[in-house]
Amino acid sequence: MKLSIALLAGDGIGPEVIDQAVKVSDAIAKKFNHEISWKPALTGAAAIDAVGDPYPDATHEICLAADAVLFGAIGDPKYDNDPSATVRPEQGLLKMRQKLGLFANVRPTFTFPSLIDKSPLKRARIEGTDLVFLRELTGGIYFGKRGREDNGNTAYDTCTYTRAEVQRLAKKGFELAMTRTKKLCCVDKANVLESSRLWRETVQAMEKDYPEVTVSYEFVDAVAMRLVQWPNSYDVLITENLFGDILTDEASVISGSMGLMPSASVGTETSLFEPIHGSYPQAAGKDIANPLATVLSAAMMFEDAFGLSEEATLIRKVVNDSLDAGFVTEDLAEGVAPQKTSAVGDWLAAKILEA
Ligand code: IPM
Ligand code: MN
Repeated sequence: MKLSIALLAGDGIGPEVIDQAVKVSDAIAKKFNHEISWKPALTGAAAIDAVGDPYPDATHEICLAADAVLFGAIGDPKYDNDPSATVRPEQGLLKMRQKLGLFANVRPTFTFPSLIDKSPLKRARIEGTDLVFLRELTGGIYFGKRGREDNGNTAYDTCTYTRAEVQRLAKKGFELAMTRTKKLCCVDKANVLESSRLWRETVQAMEKDYPEVTVSYEFVDAVAMRLVQWPNSYDVLITENLFGDILTDEASVISGSMGLMPSASVGTETSLFEPIHGSYPQAAGKDIANPLATVLSAAMMFEDAFGLSEEATLIRKVVNDSLDAGFVTEDLAEGVAPQKTSAVGDWLAAKILEA
């Protein structure tokens, strides 16, 4: 298969972890006879420095033309500490989500047998956890009307949703639930928020089209609690943008390391695959960051964007083998010598070719 993949390394550790995902993907291509053509493009602080825009038009064109986008991380502390900065790297991410129509962010949470005791939660609570959040990504308070009044002394952000926006996200949720244990949880705050009542009413109306799916409706505050109490009681969860942002960070703790969780963003144009961790600027350039979340994002890309499940399965297998063998970066190295980011990438690529 001929694959054209836009490569957006971004900021901080982005370029280093992306390099490992490229090594792994190239090894997969060699083994399975695919031809990958990588299309690097600028994004984030790196793009602001180069052309003054965190998601330049040239990058958008490259993403639109590609079969998938592989993304590293965005963010630079020099902007975090400057509230007066008018252009910020994160704006690039939001603009990219909007322009590529990436309305559904798919964030799985699962445990790795060899890492289960690294989770701050007790083994008995998390064993068997395998859930997926579908976070709405191009609406809600992130993109609603905002402003200041009263000479700057009052500020507001508004959460707006249309029925159509809820429907298209919920449809993905129902479809995903059908491929899994047919359990869907709609997370909202319908006891207080009008937008949540629209969510609930819309999802309720769709239930008849998916008679096999059992839907539960739960308030976001209760889900925040149950998620760490009984994460293995959930399967597919759908929710609006900000609730999803918060809950998926919470969920990532279950697996024991944020350095491990991949994600996909899908919508109307090219799909995008990225680790859920940030740009981790303190580690940038040191060759110490954990590349596995990005490598596993590449696995999601092979499976979801290209329908290449065997390739994805092999990537996941060698990642598991590296964990079992203790060939890991310093965040996971307990009682074993820590490996460099690049060494982990080399190891995974070699194992793929040997397999
Ligand atoms: C995420 C991030 C982004 C978000 C930030 C960087 C804008 O936290 O992808 O979850 O809030 O969506
Ligand atoms: Mn977030």
